[in-house]
Amino acid sequence: MLAMPWLQGKPTVPVAKRKSCSRISYTCDMSNTETLRDQPQTVGQALQFCSEALQNSDVFFGHGTDSAWDESVQLVLSVAGLPLDSSDDVLPDPLSPEGITRLRSLLGRRIEEHIPLPYLLGRAWFAGLEYLCDPRAIIPRSPIAELILAEFRPWYSGPEPTRILDLCCGGGCIGLAVAHYFPAARVDLLDIDSAALELAQENTAALELVDRVSIIQSDLFDELGDGRYDLILSNPPYVDAADIAAMPAEYHHEPENSLGSGADGLALTRRILSCAETWLRDTGLLVVEVGNSWTALEEAYPEVPFTWLEFEHGGEGVFAISARELQEYSTKWRQLGL
Ligand SMILES: C[S@@+](CC[C@H](N)C(=O)[O-])C[C@H]1O[C@@H](n2cnc3c(N)ncnc32)[C@H](O)[C@@H]1O
Repeated sequence: MLAMPWLQGKPTVPVAKRKSCSRISYTCDMSNTETLRDQPQTVGQALQFCSEALQNSDVFFGHGTDSAWDESVQLVLSVAGLPLDSSDDVLPDPLSPEGITRLRSLLGRRIEEHIPLPYLLGRAWFAGLEYLCDPRAIIPRSPIAELILAEFRPWYSGPEPTRILDLCCGGGCIGLAVAHYFPAARVDLLDIDSAALELAQENTAALELVDRVSIIQSDLFDELGDGRYDLILSNPPYVDAADIAAMPAEYHHEPENSLGSGADGLALTRRILSCAETWLRDTGLLVVEVGNSWTALEEAYPEVPFTWLEFEHGGEGVFAISARELQEYSTKWRQLGL
């Protein structure tokens, strides 16, 4: 079972309803609520305490969890040092005085400063793997996790991938997950931002993948060396100007250059489409997340057969396009003022 399959989502779109994998039921016995308000003593009381506090606040859930309850489970179990798939059996477990103090402090910052929970905890989960997580990079939540776990079937039909590029890698979640699940592949993690790449480097070491993973600082494909890839995976910035203006406070804690991409959100995606063909093997596949901006992309290229992928755990706006299709439309990308 994945540690937290609901930790996949989108930057600005409210997260679709997802099932929590926690086996703790919402209706756990919450007796003695007077004491509870003053000082939660057990895991169960702390869950109720946090859940009520979050429900009564104006926080926005969009960074991996979609409800006060799921976020409370993640917060309390993390502070208590318990596995995130714990069952109801842990509800009577006592919290240490230090645990209670830390819990109150994190909850206070979550509510007052609107800091997304993964930044407060310093870790995030993606495709069943745990990552270091801090404001050097966006919080992992791409639905591409689901495609990785399905080994890109049926969309990728070439030989076993041996070279994969995570273009716009941030803290490295996509590329490191493919490196983990495709042990025959060498993976390049590429980003323009040196701070994000530092975090990607730390995650590479933490996941013990340094032998097969390279870190490249580059403006898209500019600094790439020779060779072509079987898969190019990208979750570039894609939020359009209107969505940027309306973003809840939580998103302002993330690096600005991770989200916005011009008026229609497609500035980076246009550049990726115009060059990707050069970097893909003939049997290769390009997978790009564009979120809400998928309608703008369809309008910009009405004749291009983008395949829009569907997700069991929520998310939309991810397309796949083969190297051959990219070749077929290569003049089109250039004609459209790329
Ligand atoms: C939406 S974040 C995605 C991070 C990570 N792939 C993920 O899914 O969590 C987009 C990333 O693109 C990077 N980026 C922005 N402009 C870029 C460019 N011109 N070339 C390469 N990377 C760029 C940002 O630094 C940021 O880390």
